Amino acid sequence: MVARSFCASTLSGRGARFVYYHITMKSLTLFILTFSLFNVFALSQDAIIDKKIDSLLNLMSLEEKLGQLNQTIGTWSVSTTERISEEQAAMIRQGKIGSFLGIIGAFETGRIQRIAVKESRLGIPLLFGLDVIHGFRTVFPIPLAEASTWNPDLIERAARVAANEASAAGIQWTFAPMVDIARDPRWGRIAEGSGEDPYLGSVFAAARVRGFQGKNLSDVGAILACAKHFAAYGGAEAGKDYNTVDLSERTLREIYSPPFKAAVDAGVWTLMSAFNEISGVPSSGNRWLLTDLLRNEWGFKGFVVSDWTAISELQNHGAASSRTDAGILALRAGVDIDMVSGIYENELVDAVRTKKLPQEYVDQAVRRVLKAKFAYGLFDHPYRNCDTLREKSEMLTPDHLALARTVAQQSIVLLKNGKNILPLDKSVRTIALIGPLADNRIDPLGPWAGVGRPDDVVTVLEGVKQKILPQTKLLFARGCTISSDSSADIEQAVRVVNQADVAVVVLGEGAHMSGEAASRSNLDLPGRQNELLKAIHRTGKPIVLVLMNGRPLTISWAAENVNAIVEAWFLGVQSGNAIADVLFGDVNPSGKLPATFPRSVGQIPLYYNHKNTGRPIADSNKYTSKYLDVPNTPLYPFGFGLSYTKFSYSNIWASSRTIAKNQEIRIAVDVENSGKRTGDEVVQLYVQDEAASVTRPVRELKGFKRVNLKPGEKQSVEFVLTPEHLSFYNLEMIKVVESGAFSAFVGGNSVDVLKTKFDVE
Ligand code: NOJ
Repeated sequence: MVARSFCASTLSGRGARFVYYHITMKSLTLFILTFSLFNVFALSQDAIIDKKIDSLLNLMSLEEKLGQLNQTIGTWSVSTTERISEEQAAMIRQGKIGSFLGIIGAFETGRIQRIAVKESRLGIPLLFGLDVIHGFRTVFPIPLAEASTWNPDLIERAARVAANEASAAGIQWTFAPMVDIARDPRWGRIAEGSGEDPYLGSVFAAARVRGFQGKNLSDVGAILACAKHFAAYGGAEAGKDYNTVDLSERTLREIYSPPFKAAVDAGVWTLMSAFNEISGVPSSGNRWLLTDLLRNEWGFKGFVVSDWTAISELQNHGAASSRTDAGILALRAGVDIDMVSGIYENELVDAVRTKKLPQEYVDQAVRRVLKAKFAYGLFDHPYRNCDTLREKSEMLTPDHLALARTVAQQSIVLLKNGKNILPLDKSVRTIALIGPLADNRIDPLGPWAGVGRPDDVVTVLEGVKQKILPQTKLLFARGCTISSDSSADIEQAVRVVNQADVAVVVLGEGAHMSGEAASRSNLDLPGRQNELLKAIHRTGKPIVLVLMNGRPLTISWAAENVNAIVEAWFLGVQSGNAIADVLFGDVNPSGKLPATFPRSVGQIPLYYNHKNTGRPIADSNKYTSKYLDVPNTPLYPFGFGLSYTKFSYSNIWASSRTIAKNQEIRIAVDVENSGKRTGDEVVQLYVQDEAASVTRPVRELKGFKRVNLKPGEKQSVEFVLTPEHLSFYNLEMIKVVESGAFSAFVGGNSVDVLKTKFDVE
């Protein structure tokens, strides 16, 4: 109970000054009285918490309030076990730190929490945050790969597992999900999100929030989620990380912000303000974004944390001329916690005292932070995640590993399967496994792999070894490194392939080549890998190319010349098992691309939901929107992915020819497994508003369903299109459905679709 925790610490606080003690006791009595009175009238849980916060705020000094808004990082240089410096411990005692990032461990977080609860004047517990992006110790596939499952229920379970493990290690708050839309694969952080589409991104944003936060925050294993980076961070010019973003309010609302709105609707407790500016206003100082849109329009009630030093960076942006001004700008805009700039803590005391910053902005932010701490139950159970026994038993359990394998299997996208070379026969005589990623246990973890350990990773070599029959010979050669210039090993790899019946070549990027500060201007396979692939191709042996990468790559040569391509992204600890499951047919691949694969970097940004333009491409007419040297089409479109079986679509049907603006319409299609294996198909629904007061994209995803069909089995798959699905922002930025003709498209990707039409009256 709140009274106990801050009362106890107040009374036991060393040398508690008389004045504080006096004020505290008076307010405490008042608090208890008020609290009991309100209890009698059975206030809602929310109102009770608000009352507790009022009482607490009354007790807090300005310095203590700003302390709640100050987040610092744990340090590794103190000792082998202790993660904070003496100076930080002193600050905790003075109430000058409200949260930490980067401190892991049930014991150590407990030790530090005890300083806050027992040795600070008011005993307000700390929050411990960490980037738990795709798993904690059980590392799952990178988020872009998880999005390839098009299976939000599965990914909700993966987030649950991550939350379970992280919470067992003292973590209470993850800086995830990353819900930035990315239309530019040069941007390395595309790996951390769900790709290019606002609808798919929204579905996954909500699923991950549910997964992290659980049904109830007080449940064991729940952690606070943080939707980031608000907003439009993925819109960086030229795909260069941290770069300027310039876009219309329409694009912000229609493309970049829906996943954030979905996270808010799913009850996300926190958001992170982004590094980038949007059309001249840095996100971390953007009041319209953080207050008008987020709170007033969407009704967000949690708190906003800045990205790392983003408040201080307002000076570099040229939006503030001093640290004080940067702090004032950010806090007034609606950034409640300052991640490591130290500005709120150091600069804002004077700003308030000199009346440059009205105190109510501070109080409002503190209120939001305390509310989350109360909601998470920290005042009652400050050590809820500090059970060292639970920490030992929760990591890498068989259940977690089994789920990680399923997620990895479903994340794999089969891009090509010439002459059905896949699945491989387990009794093939000799397999040559080639490539710098084939026997690699570091890179498959991908970027932001938390506390994942290379030793936990099953490599492709290990996975394949376990799969083949004893008489099958497995030969291995690295061929080259991921990115160095040396081609010394290529010849040896060719010799190995010459002895084999088939070459499985595992190529791609290093984990550090995607993620933060990892933009690339060239999306070819790095280093000498293309050379290696071409040398193997000259042997004439059949080639299965397995790709590990954090973004769409430009692989036109491979697409034309190798027999099969398996897009495996970075699949985490179960990489080798899942890849072998797919290569040998124990699992029929079902993943679909969440981001377009361009033919060349020059086509970027290339995304499926583009506009038609006034001069849509026509081969016979030069003066249409196209390039001279490359087709407009992608190499592999959004939503694309093959299976070892075949799915045939027929009989698209709309429940009505005409509907009213406020009516729903059903769209159905028959999907038949016309191949020879059981398989899952992700059936996708797209719409187009053909003519409107604001031009609409040629196609927009509005629904998808995963169906499992046996050979010969046929199923009618039905979708409901609601007015929300048919609406858009009109010129006044109001969401409307307009009358006119609509097309609905259903298919197994964004290009190969059946079409039907209906009218809205
Ligand atoms: C910077 C990154 O942009 C953000 O995503 C991350 O949460 C913070 N660093 C904290 O690690």
